[in-house]
Amino acid sequence: MKNPAFFMCGPDYFDIKYSINPWMNSGNPPDKHLAYQQWDNLYCQLRSLGATVEIIPPCNYPDMVYIADSGIIHQNIFYTSNFRFKERRKESPFWKSFFGKYYKVACLPDKDFYEGSGDSCIVGDKLFCGYGFRTAEKSAYKISKMMGLKPCLLELLDKNFYHLDTCFAPLDAHHALFYPPALSLAARKTIEDHFNCYAVPDTEALNFACNIVSFHRKVLIPENCPLTMDLLNQLGFEPYAIELSEFIKAGGASKCLTLRTTPLS
Ligand code: ARG
Repeated sequence: MKNPAFFMCGPDYFDIKYSINPWMNSGNPPDKHLAYQQWDNLYCQLRSLGATVEIIPPCNYPDMVYIADSGIIHQNIFYTSNFRFKERRKESPFWKSFFGKYYKVACLPDKDFYEGSGDSCIVGDKLFCGYGFRTAEKSAYKISKMMGLKPCLLELLDKNFYHLDTCFAPLDAHHALFYPPALSLAARKTIEDHFNCYAVPDTEALNFACNIVSFHRKVLIPENCPLTMDLLNQLGFEPYAIELSEFIKAGGASKCLTLRTTPLS
């Protein structure tokens, strides 16, 4: 089995300087030192479990650490995000030029909002793509077609779960965690039709239980999700709890801090 590979972007400029999701509150700033330790611990944990991780030095934008949102990689092409908010749109030229050294770069027209791996993931020949808060429905459809994947479009309903990766997580091609109240009935059905799905409890959803990194049956999950950890153990996965309190303050956890370059395994 091939080792999974990820990019991570350093937390040097990570901060809460604006608010573009309900988690972000400048009165509750991250502890920079702790954030660095937590980020480094995630990096070390991924490596010790056998993943390859390449670190990207950041520019002076506070949300770049959430590299999942930069785009999505498929068959040697980096599909760049078109961020909805002007605060994050500033990141895009950097991502394009950085990933341009490794991959061909493709992009939807500027006005088609799409937030990369934050809102979408590839499973087999399908793209599961969330829409509603960041990505637009039309863009979700267009990007699937552009990537040559079958679109499975999932409407998001709860602003606390504004990116798909906050309420849906495939563990492998057959199993997934999800948080049904954040998804439309049609979205839940689409997920249930494709996976054996397991709903995470409310309190743990709010602790980012769905914002996980999963490979080779190992699952890196934010701390304070004991019921989800039990469930993963029962299903034969190996969960590892990671402390990510500082990143949750800005609305993201393990998944958002990584960009996967290899298919789900
Ligand atoms: N503050 C960032 C934003 O609102 C957090 C992004 C987290 N990313 C994610 N894929 N959930 O854009």
